[in-house]
Amino acid sequence: MDRYAEGDTPWDIGRADGNLVRMAERGAILPCAVLEAGCGTGADAVWLAEQGFTVSGLDESAAAIRLARERAGRAGVTARFFVWDFLGDPPPVPPQDLVYDRGLFHSYSGHADRRAVARKAAACLGPDGKWLLVCGRKDAPGGAPGVCRCTALEVVAAAEPYFDTLLLEAAFFSTKDGGDSPAWLYLGKKRAS
Ligand SMILES: C[S@@+](CC[C@H](N)C(=O)[O-])C[C@H]1O[C@@H](n2cnc3c(N)ncnc32)[C@H](O)[C@@H]1O
Repeated sequence: MDRYAEGDTPWDIGRADGNLVRMAERGAILPCAVLEAGCGTGADAVWLAEQGFTVSGLDESAAAIRLARERAGRAGVTARFFVWDFLGDPPPVPPQDLVYDRGLFHSYSGHADRRAVARKAAACLGPDGKWLLVCGRKDAPGGAPGVCRCTALEVVAAAEPYFDTLLLEAAFFSTKDGGDSPAWLYLGKKRAS
């Protein structure tokens, strides 16, 4: 089922996530070639393009990508969008400086799948490329299990074969209603292979 076609997309806030904005304001990410994995309807991708990033976005949902292209058109920015399975063949982009993920990684509940997402992110990056991840935070061992919530250990265990951890911060997603939705903010630098 395509949740975009169904209109069931509570994560889609229609504006850039505050964590992404803060990372840019802190200078932790600078304009560069960025691939957004699981870009949804493109609010973050379009914001990045407005800040001078060279943006590619992919999502497995054709409905989401159609909306992302429309959003970029309305904003008057250039960004390339692909209907693409991030866990499948390499996307048709050159080596990137940054891969950004808000919500794709955490849609996978098992360690093997999450590690595969991290491996794919690394494969899309050039040397010294970075992976910026915002994913659901599971605060306490024994808390609600399953999809869209990770422990810090789960994030680092998936990332660490491919990335040196630069930052792991307890944060909150920007939400539609301003409510608290705990998140991890992770930034890793691709390891030399
Ligand atoms: C929680 S949503 C977040 C969307 C967007 N980043 C946002 O913040 O609004 C997760 C997104 O990942 C996409 N996704 C999940 N697995 C994917 C895959 N293997 N390849 C491409 N997109 C995927 C979903 O279609 C969905 O748009």
